Amino acid sequence: MHKAVLPFALFVLITLFAPSLASHACENHTFSNNRTYARCVDLPVLNSSLHWNYNRSSYTLDMAFRHVGTTHSRWVAWAINPSGQQMIGSQALVAYQSNNNGSMRVYTSPVDSYATSLQEGRLKYRVSRLSATFEKESEMTIFAAVHLTSDMGTINQVWQEGPLNGKGDGPSMHATSGDHIKSIGTLNLVTGVTS
Ligand SMILES: *[C@@H]1O[C@H](CO)[C@@H](O)[C@H](O)[C@H]1NC(C)=O
Ligand SMILES: *[C@@H]1O[C@H](CO)[C@@H](O)[C@H](O)[C@H]1NC(C)=O
Ligand SMILES: *[C@@H]1O[C@H](CO)[C@@H](O)[C@H](O)[C@H]1NC(C)=O
Ligand SMILES: *[C@@H]1O[C@H](CO)[C@@H](O)[C@H](O)[C@H]1NC(C)=O
Ligand SMILES: *[C@@H]1O[C@H](CO)[C@@H](O)[C@H](O)[C@H]1NC(C)=O
Repeated sequence: MHKAVLPFALFVLITLFAPSLASHACENHTFSNNRTYARCVDLPVLNSSLHWNYNRSSYTLDMAFRHVGTTHSRWVAWAINPSGQQMIGSQALVAYQSNNNGSMRVYTSPVDSYATSLQEGRLKYRVSRLSATFEKESEMTIFAAVHLTSDMGTINQVWQEGPLNGKGDGPSMHATSGDHIKSIGTLNLVTGVTS
């Protein structure tokens, strides 16, 4: 009797945890700069994944945000939002390929308005080792170490992508329907569980 109960219990457990662990294609990705991350999660919309190491004693989040299926005339962004699951208050990392010389521009931007053009500014968190790549004419990745101010187990994350402006020298507004308004959720930095 016990033998029959155990597989059933396991089945229930696996089924319960399946939604948050559903897709792990991110695990097989190797970064061209050879950085490695203990955890990753395939985000539910916008062809994106987050890869990270989290040091709970220094509160340092060493991360890579990867977005595929993009072009040289689009921008990507990933943010922590300490004020809620929303756009306003996002502490964003932004990247795009500059049309001047083809090099990647990557910077921090605090989002304080729905009409933001994602201008550069200081975040609530110190950010170091900020860099970005554009590879295979379709994959943009932002790398950074975000120095949190306390041990934040669960963060609100916001990610986004959109077109560059006409001059190609800065972001312009992203789509405001479909997947572009679903790209918000929580992430437990320790367990990797998302919602
Ligand atoms: C990751 O790679 C392994 C070994 O090649 C493969 O068995 C597995 O199916 C891959 N996982 C995903 C999610 O693609
Ligand atoms: C990454 O590792 C590969 C294989 O070990 C090596 O050939 C390559 O030069 C490394 N790239 C960087 C950027 O360190
Ligand atoms: C985590 O941070 C602490 C405090 O700065 C440091 O001593 C430790 O080496 C770090 N751990 C890792 C794995 O980097
Ligand atoms: C996701 O990738 C597909 C296939 O490359 C592409 O057609 C689509 O535009 C991408 N979507 C976003 C939001 O980047
Ligand atoms: C590319 O242009 C930007 C300014 O538009 C400049 O900050 C950057 O240093 C340039 N990069 C190279 C490799 O010339």
